[in-house]
Amino acid sequence: MTALQWGGRFGGAADSALLDFGSSLEEDLVLAPFDVTCSLAHVAALESAGVIGSEHAATLRGALHAVDAEIAGGAFTPYARALGAEDVHGAIDARVRELSGGAGEWLHAGRSRNDQVATTLLLYVRERARTARHRAHSIAGAIVARAREELEAGTVMAACTHRQPAQPVLLAFMLAAWSEPFVRAAQRFACVERDAAKYCPLGSGALAGSGLPLDRERAAQALGFAAPSRNALDAIGNRDAALDLAHACVRAVVDASRVAEELVAWSAPAYGYVRLGDAASTGSSLMPQKRNPDPFELVRAHAAKLVGAYAGALATLCGLAPSYQRDLQVTKSQAIAIVEDARATLGAFARAWDAVSFSRERMERAALDGFTIATDLADALVAAGTSPREAHARIGAQVARAEAEGAALDPSFDARASIAAKRTRGSTAPGDVRDQIRSLERELAVVETRP
Ligand code: ARG
Repeated sequence: MTALQWGGRFGGAADSALLDFGSSLEEDLVLAPFDVTCSLAHVAALESAGVIGSEHAATLRGALHAVDAEIAGGAFTPYARALGAEDVHGAIDARVRELSGGAGEWLHAGRSRNDQVATTLLLYVRERARTARHRAHSIAGAIVARAREELEAGTVMAACTHRQPAQPVLLAFMLAAWSEPFVRAAQRFACVERDAAKYCPLGSGALAGSGLPLDRERAAQALGFAAPSRNALDAIGNRDAALDLAHACVRAVVDASRVAEELVAWSAPAYGYVRLGDAASTGSSLMPQKRNPDPFELVRAHAAKLVGAYAGALATLCGLAPSYQRDLQVTKSQAIAIVEDARATLGAFARAWDAVSFSRERMERAALDGFTIATDLADALVAAGTSPREAHARIGAQVARAEAEGAALDPSFDARASIAAKRTRGSTAPGDVRDQIRSLERELAVVETRP
């Protein structure tokens, strides 16, 4: 049994080092269960077209289910490695041929690895987009739940721009803000999921379609696609969905990295806003007092790494003629690596998030540091008819005086009063934050149930 799916026209053997160089087996092992699903649909397309009889079809189905069980049980990976297969598709084909005798020779009828890879990749993308949507949804939900808690507690704090104290806000408002990008991420994953379920490449053959009367509608339907793809040449070289998923993954990890950065800063004793539980903290081998927020630092680093990886994946398409070129194997591997890394990173972020606790007192105490009510005092002057320029200058001078004297700006006006004074929709005023949280919860309920 040869692992290679070609060879008839060659007189000599291929250079084994070059075969190794060309192998994508390790990177695409993760596609194995999706290839089985794709192959089962191809069997249906062959049977329904009368290319194979029902007996062969039944034998092939039995063999594919057996391979599926070997994949799930862990026996398939060592088998494929020992075989030295060029890719996971060749390994599955070889195993089916071993298991099903003569019928196995018919599995690849009318099929190329080109339409097979394109279809399998779409099935993978759809599944991973779905789990990523759930992940983003549950992160958003976890953050919104904390926002609700902090709204009840009425925790106030100073929000910063440029890392300098800016204005008092409710912690609930800040948390609601943190959840928004994850809602958008979930929606982005839903969009990838929908796109990846539109057109089924299977039956496109190598690039020109097939001379066998394959039942493409049946295959598309069996795989949950809306329809067979329109143009075979485009279908076999199209990697849009894989790149869109990779992009959505990178975006979500970048979103997580921004929250992670805030939590790293807040857990430093100089802030003291956050205590990260033991489960998510790491110590030092030398300094006994250390308590480091490593998971959030690593989220930042993975974000940076993934931005580079995405650029690399996209770059493999530059100048690639619109058909199958072997470069696409690398595009695929890179997209998969991004998706799997993002999956692990977002999973770690979610776990570490559960270990975050906020120090309400520390936040409240710092809420007025840096004269954060200066804008409110200027707003009050403007409301009473002073021009904004004049108000800005007068309060600025007051800040300078208070700073020199080590005094407060206006002891009768505090952070809570500043927060309550907000009038615009989307502000940090408690009533508005309550509306924001309700609206977030409604939007999350939709994205959870509908791709
Ligand atoms: N391992 C290849 C890939 O993943 C399979 C496709 C091979 N197709 C071909 N025309 N050589 O892209």
